[in-house]
Amino acid sequence: MSSYELITKNEEETAAFANRLAEKLMPGDVLALEGDLGAGKTAFTRGIAKGLGVKRNVNSPTFTIIKEYQGRLPLYHMDVYRMEDQDEDLGFEEYFSGGGVTIVEWAHLIESQLPPDLLLVTISHHTDLNARKFVFKPVGARYEELCKEIF
Ligand SMILES: Nc1ncnc2c1ncn2[C@@H]1O[C@H](COP(=O)(O)OP(=O)(O)O)[C@@H](O)[C@H]1O
Ligand SMILES: [Mg+2]
Repeated sequence: MSSYELITKNEEETAAFANRLAEKLMPGDVLALEGDLGAGKTAFTRGIAKGLGVKRNVNSPTFTIIKEYQGRLPLYHMDVYRMEDQDEDLGFEEYFSGGGVTIVEWAHLIESQLPPDLLLVTISHHTDLNARKFVFKPVGARYEELCKEIF
């Protein structure tokens, strides 16, 4: 499997990259985000949202698993960290195959419910406080193509 790395020095660089990626996204795209608390999953999602033309502020409310935003394409933002039963089907399939872009924070927690093809994005702290390492692993032809376009 191919993989692509990116280091950002601060949140602005993360947002700028996410903005650029957002321009290439298509209906039905799924991004699976991994990384510890504070890694930058929501910050990255905010950049994608902005790039999709979402006007509302994207946040991580404690008790909402799925939030929907309107932009050039709809954005379905999921944070499954607090799901009690990770096999519970909250209708994920309809989002994944819907007309929008889906971003799942802590995606591995619902591994059995994820679509076969997706873009896996793993974020970790890197050297100093505001540096982050992003590793992108495309699974499936669509995401291989997407990565070739952006890297
Ligand atoms: N390079 C960076 N990219 C993204 N966020 C960063 C970066 N440097 C510092 N931060 C900060 O790290 C925190 C990331 O928080 P958040 O995106 O909510 O993480 P997560 O959703 O992974 O728990 C934010 O406070 C953000 O300002
Ligand atoms: Mg988050």
